[in-house]
Parts: sequence; structure tokens; C-alpha cells
Amino acid sequence: MINNFEFYNPTKLIFGNGQITNIAKYIPANSKVLITYGMGSIKKNGIYDEVISALNHFNVVEFGGIEANPTYQTLMRAVILARKTNIDYILAVGGGSVIDGTKFISAAINFDGDEWNILSKNSKIQSAVPFGSVLTLPATGSEMNSGAVISNSDNNEKRVFANPLCYPKFSVLEPKVILSLPKTQIANGIADAFVHTLEQYITYPVKADLHDKISEGILTTLIDNGRVLYNNSSDEDAAHNVMFSATMALNGLISAGVPSDWATHMIGHELTAMHKIDHAKTLAIILPKLYRSLIESKKEKLAQYGKNVWNITKGTELEIAEEAINATEKFFNDIEIKTNFSDYFDNKKQTLDIIIERFKNRKWTKLGEKGMVTPEIISDIFNEND
Ligand code: NZQ
Ligand code: ZN
Repeated sequence: MINNFEFYNPTKLIFGNGQITNIAKYIPANSKVLITYGMGSIKKNGIYDEVISALNHFNVVEFGGIEANPTYQTLMRAVILARKTNIDYILAVGGGSVIDGTKFISAAINFDGDEWNILSKNSKIQSAVPFGSVLTLPATGSEMNSGAVISNSDNNEKRVFANPLCYPKFSVLEPKVILSLPKTQIANGIADAFVHTLEQYITYPVKADLHDKISEGILTTLIDNGRVLYNNSSDEDAAHNVMFSATMALNGLISAGVPSDWATHMIGHELTAMHKIDHAKTLAIILPKLYRSLIESKKEKLAQYGKNVWNITKGTELEIAEEAINATEKFFNDIEIKTNFSDYFDNKKQTLDIIIERFKNRKWTKLGEKGMVTPEIISDIFNEND
């Protein structure tokens, strides 16, 4: 049965090409605005110019240079700048890294104490500076959720925080931003959104028919449109559909009142932290292996997924579940995402030992929807022959 739930998502979505020109009307008049961005893609594809011209009546301060997998060290420089310049609104212009980084900046500006504790000790924040976003890479869903993932370059940790104060006030989704994305980032976006949906869907049945149908709808939309978009980034319909799917995959709707997993993400974050592998690629390595290790526990939902998403009709429940995992891995491979550890790094044993030690220290020894992702299961995943 679906559990009781509350669902509240305050982010205003502003979807469609041509919307950046309107952003001024969503920002309170007389705000002093900090514009945050990444390593320069927005200066090459014209989005920076569009944003600056849309904000010409505002007093604007800029902070560029937020790297992919944003670091606490970089973000603290933005926090200091924002405090010094008395910023009262932030506009994030970028992908998940810039939006996540901006959430941290917004939470840290008025935080009294060691700001790293927001991430490492889940320290409560009392307020957050309001912010909006212009999304340039459909992938993470950060544009419509309250979570952020931040790395620490001193100790190679990657930590997550979430707070209801950290929903963007608005997010602009212009599918045309996809035109300038490198192919590998288009693939990353499709795979990340795909895995977000699976993390909330491949658990165990609770008769949540609408949740399941929405998830299956997002997954089939991503398969059909993702394949088209990967081969032709100027296909506008595919771009619109992928962008909206990525947002819907992680805005809280499909997980409301139902079990969710997230173990693939938690293990994947460690691979990014240690080996600098793109976030989505870590998921494509871990997810099929994790599902194979837990097939008995997940087989009912996996078989449902096999039938409704991949149209696999023949075989026992277990066989359909196995085929569904194979189809998922093939989908990642079709968009040129490799799924073996050995495609990315060699020192598997050392990596595994560090992950187990970190997870034990954090008391993360029973992850997943049933607490079945133990250090032993993580070892199984790493001991797969690849
Ligand atoms: O830095 P710039 O120059 O902007 O270049 C970026 C970066 O190199 C580039 N890019 C972005 N938009 C572009 C573009 N290049 C050309 N044209 C455009 N329109 O793409 C590269 C990757 O950007 P990034 O923001 O790092 O990618 P993504 O959106 O995949 O975000 C990844 C981060 O989000 C976190 C990940 O852990 C990772 O740190 N996640 C956040 C989540 C959340 N807040 O809910 C959930 C996710 O599971 C994920 O963990
Ligand atoms: Zn993700």
C-alpha cells in the first residue's frame, strides 16, 4: 500500500525556448543578484549574454568557475564574496553542478559555524538566500529539488545535503541549451535521469499504480527520445521530451509514499570522489551489477519493468527480470556509456576497501529499500568479473 505522504514542490518551472528573456520578472525588484556559473560553456553558447541582458536593471555580481562535481573549497569563495557584497538573490546558470553548488552557497551564507558541517553532520540551516536557476544540462533534476551533492577536494569525499529551504524559486528550462552539449554529456543526462527513475521504481510492489505508470512513462520517453537525441541533438521534439523527463524524474513526485533504493547513487558517488568518473557513468557501472546481486529481492518490479518498458513477454518472472537488466545495460552501451569497472580504473580492490571503510564509518551498512545492500553485497558487486 502507498504510505501516507505530503508532497510540496514550490519551484516554478518556466519551460520552453525564449524564456530566458523573461527572468527579470521572477526576481524581486531591487535585488542584488549573484550570478553563478561553471567553467565557461555559457560564454561560448550565448546563454551568458542572454542572462546578462535580461538582468540589465539589476545590480549584478558574478561568480564563475564552479567545476563539475563542485567543491566545497570553490563554493566557499563564492560564500565569502556573497557575504562581502550583501547579495540577496542568486541566479544559477548551468548544469547540476552549478545548481547544486548554488544551493550550498545559499545555505552557507547565513550559517553560523563550520559550513562543512552542513554536509558532513547534516547540521540544520535556519535560512537560505533565495535563488533561481537557468538549466543548461538536463540530467540531475536539481532544478526542481532541494538536494545538492558537494565534493571536498581535501579529503576526496562527496557528500549530499537536502533542505526544504533549498528549492529553486524558479527554473528556466530551454531545450535549445542541448544544442551546445558535447555528446557525452547528452548521454550522461539521459542515463542519470533514467537511473533516478529506476532508483524510485525498482524496489518491491506496493500497488502504487500511478507512481509505476509515471515511472514507466518517464523511462520509455527517455529510451525513445534519448536514442533520437543522442544521434541528433538538433531534434527539437526529442530535446523537449528529454528535458522534461529529467526534471520529472527527480522532483519528489514518483517517490512520494513509496519505497526507494538510492544504493547505486551512494556507491557511485564514491567512484566519482576517488576516480573523477562522471556521475552518470558511475551509475551505469554499478546499477546492472547491483540488480544482478539482488535479483531475488527485486525480481517482481524488474519483471514488471521488463514487460512494461522493454516489452519482454516470454519467460519466467526471473528470466524477464534478467533480460530487463541486460536491456538496461545495453541501452547505456548504445549511448556509448561503458559499464565495466575496467573501462575506467584498475585498482578495484583498493577502491572497494575504501568504500567499505567509509560506509562503515558513516554507519551505512544497510542501504537500499530493504537494507540489503551490506558491505558483503558491495563486495559481490566489485568482485564481478569485468
Ligand atoms: O562548467 P561548464 O563550462 O558549464 O561545462 C559543463 C561541464 O563541463 C558542461 N555543460 C553544461 N551545460 C552545457 C555544457 N557544455 C556545453 N553546453 C551546455 N549547455 O557539462 C559539464 C558537466 O556539467 P555538470 O553540471 O557537472 O553535469 P550534471 O548536470 O550532470 O551535474 C552533475 C552533478 O550533479 C550531481 C552529481 O553528483 C554531480 O556533482 N547530482 C545532483 C543531484 C541533485 N541535486 O538532485 C542528483 C544527481 O544524482 C547527482 O548526484
Ligand atoms: Zn544521479
